[in-house]
Amino acid sequence: MEKIDPRKYGHIVFFTGAGMSAESGVPTYRGRGGVWSHYRWEEFACQEAFDGDPEKVLKFHELRRAAVLACQPHAGHAAIAALEKRHPRVTVVTQNIDGMHQRAGSVQVIELHGSLWRVRCQQDGVAEDIGEKYRSYRCASCGNWLRPDIVWFGDMLDQGVMAAAVAAIRSCDLFVSIGTSGVVYPAAGFPSFAKGNGARCLEINPEANEMSSLYDEALRAPAGEVLPELFS
Ligand code: APR
Repeated sequence: MEKIDPRKYGHIVFFTGAGMSAESGVPTYRGRGGVWSHYRWEEFACQEAFDGDPEKVLKFHELRRAAVLACQPHAGHAAIAALEKRHPRVTVVTQNIDGMHQRAGSVQVIELHGSLWRVRCQQDGVAEDIGEKYRSYRCASCGNWLRPDIVWFGDMLDQGVMAAAVAAIRSCDLFVSIGTSGVVYPAAGFPSFAKGNGARCLEINPEANEMSSLYDEALRAPAGEVLPELFS
C-alpha cells in the first residue's frame, strides 16, 4: 500500500486492540495463547469475582502488570506517537489496558476499558498506581478494597469515556483500526460512525474477521511492520 500523507487529513483516529500490543509480547485475549484460554475470566475479571475474593483478583492483576512491564512499546506505537507530535489532531482510542501507547509517548489516548495502572475506591474515587505491585490493596483513607479501574466482563463502559471516543470517531477523516477482533461492544459500530463523517476506514490486522467488510481497505500484516512504513 502507498504511504499515507497525514497532511491530507484533519483528524486521524487510531482504534487499537490487543493485537496492537502483540508484537511487544503482551498476550492477546482470544485465540491461541490468549489470556482467556489460560484463565477463566469468571474467576479473575468480573465484579462477582472481585466481590468474592478481592485479593485473588488483585494478585492476578499484579501478574498482568508484571507481564506488561516486561514488555516494551514497539515501532508501531512509536510511529503513532511521532505522528501526534507533527500533526494537529491525532487521537488514539484503545481497548487496551496496558498503557503501551502512553509509554511510547502518545498523549491523546482514550482508554475504553480502563487501565491496569489505576485503582478505584468506591468511596474515594480513582487513583493512579504505577508499578509491578499495587502500592496497597486497600484505600488509604477509608480502608475499602481498591478495585482495578478496568472494565471487566459484565461492566458498563464509562459513559463519559464512551462519549469522548464516539465524538473523536465521528469527527475524524481517517480511521485506522489496528489489532482488534472487533467483536466486543462497542468496537463493531465504530467504522460506521467514522463513515458517517466520510472518513477513510483502514484495517491493520494479519487476519480478517467478521467485521473486516466494514472497512474500505485492509493491510494483512503486523502493526509493528505496517505503521512505521505507512506514516514514515
Ligand atoms: N498486528 C495487528 N493485529 C494483530 C497482531 C499484530 N501483530 N497480532 C494479532 N493481531 C490481531 C488478531 O488477528 C486479532 O484479530 O489482534 C486481534 C486481537 O483480538 P482480541 O484478542 O479479541 O483482542 P481485542 O479485540 O482487543 O479484544 C477486545 O475483549 O476481553 C476483552 O477487554 C478485553 O479489550 C479486550 C476486548
